[in-house]
Amino acid sequence: LEYPIFELPMLGGGMLIAGIAIFHVFIAQFSIGAAFLVALAERRAIRDGDADTRRFLRQYARMILLVPYVLGTMTGVGVWMAISVVNPRATSALIHLFVWAWASEWVLFIVEVASIYLYVYTWDRIAPRAHNAIAWIFAGASWLTLVIINGILSFMLTPGAWRPGEPGGFWPALLNPLFWPTTLIRTLIALALGGAGVMLLVALLKDLAPAVREKVTRLAYRMILPVWLCLPLAGWAFAVLPGRAQTFLQGGAPVMVVFLGFGMATFVILAASALVGMWRRDYSVSVFRAVLVCLLAFVSYGSFEFVREGARKPYIIEDFMYSTGVTVPGAAGVDRRANLTRVRADGVLAAAPWALPPGRTVADLDLRDAGPPVFRAACHACHTLDGYNAVRPLVRGWSAAHARYLLDHMNELKPAMPPFPGTDAEKEALARYLADLGTAVRIGGPR
Ligand code: HEC
Repeated sequence: LEYPIFELPMLGGGMLIAGIAIFHVFIAQFSIGAAFLVALAERRAIRDGDADTRRFLRQYARMILLVPYVLGTMTGVGVWMAISVVNPRATSALIHLFVWAWASEWVLFIVEVASIYLYVYTWDRIAPRAHNAIAWIFAGASWLTLVIINGILSFMLTPGAWRPGEPGGFWPALLNPLFWPTTLIRTLIALALGGAGVMLLVALLKDLAPAVREKVTRLAYRMILPVWLCLPLAGWAFAVLPGRAQTFLQGGAPVMVVFLGFGMATFVILAASALVGMWRRDYSVSVFRAVLVCLLAFVSYGSFEFVREGARKPYIIEDFMYSTGVTVPGAAGVDRRANLTRVRADGVLAAAPWALPPGRTVADLDLRDAGPPVFRAACHACHTLDGYNAVRPLVRGWSAAHARYLLDHMNELKPAMPPFPGTDAEKEALARYLADLGTAVRIGGPR
């Protein structure tokens, strides 16, 4: 908590991360799927002596592999910057736990960079089989980065046997209960995205030889088809979720249920459309249909991410750290400075000097003015005043007593919220501030 947190007025930090991460993961997963598709297509073309397909792959390798890869890498750095300014404490906790995973990630990045450039620039300059081996190395390294990052992301939702502060926690944390189902789901979505993207490219190239069009499109169908397996895998993932998250998905959080439904439906539609295409031997896909398939693949992946992020609230790391950076009482021995017991005794403002107005300290702040800084320290991780998940409309017409009741029972009333992390005086100041916010919109009404 004592790290300053970057504030984004209307959107909130979570939306900043989401905005960059959605783009990044989309591109990165597409890039992985496309890498497998190119490696596979090239291997077959070499085996069959199919010069046309190889020419197509050579011509478009930059577009299929290099451009998304470079975009993916750049936005990946953006995700890093965003998470470290928006939630520095969680980023720090994750880096400490997963330092070797991230080190491996860096090594894999180097392998990826080297292999993708080698692949593009050694075309027709080295033996075809050796050239194809480079494609497989690139695809394999890219996939391993997915496996590692997914290990970390799934850990945040199901830490499993990991206990804060206990040594030897790395492997149980990485291979947490959600690790396998979500690794497989992400892999299948990546393959589908790669298939859909290449299908679009083929549809856009009007003067492509029909035989090449057929081969590449057939391969794209085959990469999309297995996405139906995400249905049973999602069932597996659901079974290992924490009870609170299961309740959200069973109707407790209607928006999440809607997204879950979207995701499930798109898996089915995507797989069915690929199946129909294969069965009817329909290899001249229109641009419109290809765009539709890409959109479906995007929705399926977006829904999966949305549900994963939403199911984690009120935690950033389940049962260990809330979205605000405060840790649960059980972790008091590990992370004393921002532990709930400590911030409740000393005050959330004492742990978050950055939340105070410039030039003020907790000592010279009249607690009656403490509403806005307490809001910044305790609520801003999930709420803005007027933008995303805005609090002002939520407290319309509330009295200070009503607000006080919410703050006394936040986690019981709304399981997506953490318990209030401050002293009684801070709570009272915030309650009054919330009542003021709620009154301001009640035109002409009494205070
Ligand atoms: C971990 C994220 C998170 C934090 C931190 C958080 N909230 Fe919330 N809050 C939510 C979510 C999500 C909802 C919507 C829950 C729902 O509709 O079931 C919500 C709902 C609310 C509501 C509406 C409650 C109602 O009865 O309709 C109010 C008021 C509110 N929050 C105020 C606050 C205040 C004040 C703080 C800071 C002390 C805070 N929240 C901290 C996530 C959070």
